[in-house]
Amino acid sequence: MQFKLDLTVQVLVAFCFCPSHGFHHKLPRNINEKPTTVVGGVTVIDTPLVRAAQVYARQYSDDFLYNHVMRTWLFGVLFINNNATLQNTTDLEVHALGALLHDLGLGGLSLNASFITENRRFEVDSGFAATDFVKDQVEDADESSDWEAQRLQLLWDSIVLSSEPKFSLYKEATVQTVTYGVLIDLSNSSGAEYNISSADYNGVVADFPYLNFLSGVNQTLVELATRKPNSTYDSWQQAFGDAFVPHYSAFGYRFLDIFNPPA
Ligand SMILES: *[C@@H]1O[C@H](CO)[C@@H](O)[C@H](O)[C@H]1NC(C)=O
Ligand SMILES: *[C@@H]1O[C@H](CO)[C@@H](O)[C@H](O)[C@H]1NC(C)=O
Ligand SMILES: *[C@@H]1O[C@H](CO)[C@@H](O)[C@H](O)[C@H]1NC(C)=O
Ligand SMILES: *[C@@H]1O[C@H](CO)[C@@H](O)[C@H](O)[C@H]1NC(C)=O
Ligand SMILES: *[C@@H]1O[C@H](CO)[C@@H](O)[C@H](O)[C@H]1NC(C)=O
Ligand SMILES: *[C@@H]1O[C@H](CO)[C@@H](O)[C@H](O)[C@H]1NC(C)=O
Ligand SMILES: *[C@@H]1O[C@H](CO)[C@@H](O)[C@H](O)[C@H]1NC(C)=O
Repeated sequence: MQFKLDLTVQVLVAFCFCPSHGFHHKLPRNINEKPTTVVGGVTVIDTPLVRAAQVYARQYSDDFLYNHVMRTWLFGVLFINNNATLQNTTDLEVHALGALLHDLGLGGLSLNASFITENRRFEVDSGFAATDFVKDQVEDADESSDWEAQRLQLLWDSIVLSSEPKFSLYKEATVQTVTYGVLIDLSNSSGAEYNISSADYNGVVADFPYLNFLSGVNQTLVELATRKPNSTYDSWQQAFGDAFVPHYSAFGYRFLDIFNPPA
């Protein structure tokens, strides 16, 4: 009984008295002690897996989408570099893979990639495509000791939640920072709002320009709502279907409809 009470108090302390800290994640020792290289002016982790992920992302992305995932990675690293807590708690290899592979479910759509499903949200397609990619790679490269189940889960979460900051920003640092990379990229704000210097920001954009980013993403999300309407109902993606896809209707599939059944 005493034990139960202690546990309750500990849980309360962890979750009630520190409400803004999200989940703490103790990193495996030395996990970030890996070779580095410079990409877009930013010093980044350089492992065979991270290099292979860039090739994989390139294979399944149009130019505008590839540049978006590269900027997402690099902006995320710049954001981490400004914050000692994030530096101490982000798994940099998982962060890189999460950023690089987070849009596979969009990029693979027009190519009918094998990881595209009929009804799952594109983020879920991306998440499983990424964890399957890592499993294949570590099998080949015999790096499996680094890839425990927890890192795969962190990768999956960082991707699947990357489009939902209302959840992801309260998760582990690795999950947060993949989303921050996306947010910084979408903000198109020269980085100032996120404490990134304009020199760093411009260095990234010079090597990975936006190109036709706005119209490209718009067209891709319209294609998503056309090809996988079920996956888009009641998400932020629904608006693209409502606005631009003939005969698209979420009516009857929304949360609202459970409580207000269509007559
Ligand atoms: C650094 O990141 C942590 C974790 O997200 C956050 O709680 C903290 O406010 C950040 N510090 C600054 C100065 O932004
Ligand atoms: C980060 O880790 C270093 C080395 O363990 C430690 O000295 C420092 O206090 C930590 N900083 C934060 C903000 O957690
Ligand atoms: C992918 O599938 C769609 C729908 O079935 C089809 O219109 C398109 O031509 C296919 N694309 C490729 C590259 O096979
Ligand atoms: C970013 O902002 C600039 C103006 O500051 C604008 O010309 C450009 O189209 C914007 N790009 C995106 C992708 O929002
Ligand atoms: C930018 O830095 C300031 C000062 O350290 C901090 O209060 C603020 O939270 C930071 N902004 C972000 C988005 O981290
Ligand atoms: C978005 O796509 C729709 C449908 O193709 C198109 O009508 C609209 O002009 C597009 N918007 C932009 C900004 O490209
Ligand atoms: C979409 O969902 C509905 C209702 O769950 C189902 O009847 C339909 O078969 C689904 N469409 C596809 C393409 O699976």
